Amino acid sequence: MPFVERVFSGVQPTGNLHLGNYLGAIVNFVKMQETHNCIYCVVDMHAITQGVDVWGGPVELARNTREVTAAFIAAGIDPKKHIVFNQSQVSGHAELAWIFNCVARMGWLGRMTQFKEKAGKDRENASVGLFDYPVLMAADILLYRATHVPVGEDQKQHLELSRDIAQKFNNDFGDSIRAQGTNDGLFFPLPEPLITGPATRVMSLRDGTKKMSKSDASDNSRINLTDDADTIAQKIRKAKTDPEPLPTEEKGLEARPEADNLVGIFAALSGRSKADVLREFGNGQFSSFKNALAELCVTKLAPIAGEMKRLVADPGHIDAILNEGSDRARAIADETMKLSKDIVGFIRRR
Ligand code: TYM
Repeated sequence: MPFVERVFSGVQPTGNLHLGNYLGAIVNFVKMQETHNCIYCVVDMHAITQGVDVWGGPVELARNTREVTAAFIAAGIDPKKHIVFNQSQVSGHAELAWIFNCVARMGWLGRMTQFKEKAGKDRENASVGLFDYPVLMAADILLYRATHVPVGEDQKQHLELSRDIAQKFNNDFGDSIRAQGTNDGLFFPLPEPLITGPATRVMSLRDGTKKMSKSDASDNSRINLTDDADTIAQKIRKAKTDPEPLPTEEKGLEARPEADNLVGIFAALSGRSKADVLREFGNGQFSSFKNALAELCVTKLAPIAGEMKRLVADPGHIDAILNEGSDRARAIADETMKLSKDIVGFIRRR
């Protein structure tokens, strides 16, 4: 029996959400609602895996959790039709992560590039949680036996690890799974990453070879979802470019990372292909393209920023959405945990 298709994805509540999160992930979250049952999670447990200086402490964490929830809703996610919640309200995430800790191998985690980047040179001083981050991520997805996961390009390796964990669990416990009569011996699906659109990896506005990121010291490197119209326009005008005019064909963007990035952003925001954008702006000067891009960014993002502001002004309303979403998530999670415990051989209260 094939698995019922279900979408799961998550966003960390650490600092400013930016255009990369929006185009690489949230836009696709919104789209998937039309065809699938979706679960969107604010992953507050992932957020605390780096030092408190990075995630900002308890007050900041709660504020950021509400802000990401507001961004989901402002961008068009419907928390009535789909599930929106914060991870720490459903204890199954931590419980399943423990079982997966005993399935995943040290060697698999040691290869994760995000851990290497985030831990930097001082690995001895990184938290155990940072090393374990991808296992918790596998638990997030598989707790709902989700089949599809919309993410940006940078999460591809983590999704591959989730598939490896699902597969090893299915193999290790194959007899037990068959004895439970579950899905021909396949308890967990192998979740598929959905990495789609012309902006799966939005780059820094100051350096086209670096990913746009919340942690970049320069605020001019990113467009935050909460930036006002003037700030957006100014950041785009200041964005790094090269002296050549824009090419007329996509091939001409090769080895021109900054131009490629800005054209990709334009394409993603306008729902057009890069080739189509270049047909309009090719051979023209960067300055006029940048003006059009600034205008497009403001048109698309200002309403979201306005709606986010309105929503975060009423934290009670946001908390009610998260409570309701958590209740619905927990109902699915509890069923998976019950079956997982039986499969592993944990005696549970009946
Ligand atoms: P986070 O919060 O770092 O990123 C959230 C989403 O934004 C995407 N993204 C980008 N996409 C394009 N260009 C960029 N510059 C860019 N920067 C970020 C990320 O790929 C991500 O899709 N580990 C996840 C959170 C998570 C998760 C999960 C995701 C926890 N559990 C389960 C999916 C399923 C993360 O990086 O979040």
